[in-house]
Amino acid sequence: MSTVEIPTPPATDPSGLSDADVARLRAETPGSLTRHHVNNAGSALPPQVVVDTMVAHLRREAEIGGYEAHAEAQDRLDATYTSCGRLVGGRGEDIALTTSATDAWLRGFLSIPLGPGDRILVSQAEYASNVLAIMSAARRVGAVVEAVPDDATGVLDVEALRSMLDERVRVVAVTHAPSQNGLLNPAEEIGAAVRERSPEAWYVLDACQSVGQVPLDVTAIGADFVSATGRKFLRGPRGTGFLWSSARAQTLEPAIIDLDSATWTSVDDYVVVPGAHRFESWEKSYAALLGMGAAADYALALGLDVTQRRISWLADRIRVELAAIPDVVVRDRGAIRTGIVTFSVEGRVAADVVAGIKARGVNVSHSPREYAVRDFDAHGVAGLVRVSPHVYTDDSDLDALLDAVRSTLA
Ligand SMILES: Cc1ncc(COP(=O)(O)O)c(C=O)c1O
Repeated sequence: MSTVEIPTPPATDPSGLSDADVARLRAETPGSLTRHHVNNAGSALPPQVVVDTMVAHLRREAEIGGYEAHAEAQDRLDATYTSCGRLVGGRGEDIALTTSATDAWLRGFLSIPLGPGDRILVSQAEYASNVLAIMSAARRVGAVVEAVPDDATGVLDVEALRSMLDERVRVVAVTHAPSQNGLLNPAEEIGAAVRERSPEAWYVLDACQSVGQVPLDVTAIGADFVSATGRKFLRGPRGTGFLWSSARAQTLEPAIIDLDSATWTSVDDYVVVPGAHRFESWEKSYAALLGMGAAADYALALGLDVTQRRISWLADRIRVELAAIPDVVVRDRGAIRTGIVTFSVEGRVAADVVAGIKARGVNVSHSPREYAVRDFDAHGVAGLVRVSPHVYTDDSDLDALLDAVRSTLA
């Protein structure tokens, strides 16, 4: 069964990709030929071009030196900012490159000045690392953390948010596509409500699971910070991420400061560099960041609208099939669903079900309560099995997945 009604998906892929296109995407993704990988919300299989880009840069570092290889690749690094900007509908100038989504998110959030009595509003499905940092910051200064309830469809209730917004709200933190549910929060409506009711508040959007699978428009969203990771639906390498920041956010003193984000001008003074670069640090893996740039170009060339349509079609097909298996409860909410499919099984521990599916050669993952305590507790769930297809997922993967689930539960 499913906790929401999943409309019957069309018989053919609505993205416009043909079987031949999918075969090409798979040929460009060597891992897809040897593994049933439906764990793209964990860490996706990168296309070959990402691997080649990284390896080529590592070779150049070994041949001519790290700083020299960096200088040689400067044009492609500049292009990486532009490509990451395009992924969120923004400019390269407003991007800081980071080592993860959490690194990006923290660099934004921790730069926001907080005081006693400030209110921090969070989405019910907010990701653990964000909430932990928010609780820690709130405890230090005496700020208050409040959750915005979900609406009847299961996404953040914008009317409830509207009624909670006032001049004491300092931060509104929302996870766009939660790690542990297939829902997509209404980022644009949330932004409009914040701007109308608490224009001074800072809107921080965690787009870790939506970047690379959903087209984003930072102007329409109206956020101050948007954080992303390289390795999930974007299909870049591990250890990469980026932060988009608004013009207003680029006036903040960065919480993390070094000789890249600021210039030491006299023995007792410094100036912060202009623009989004204030949220970046000096040392980074240029091989990995160039790999993320290659992944961004690959995603943009395929088209994020095409990607979203194919992924959500595959995900809905999986949901419908899973819901027909006895004792399986598909937990995804919301009218617009992402490529994250979550389910529990009556009388079974989710981690055991995940282990059974993986033992049958299919990569899926486990979402434990600790990743989103508020969301799990609100729905009385202790843990979930998470399945996340991508554009290169085909019927052989779907068949293997469903066989693995059925035989694990048999
Ligand atoms: C919604 C969400 N936000 C943030 C993160 C953290 O991403 P990273 O591990 O790149 O810091 C995750 C990771 O699963 C996530 O799902």
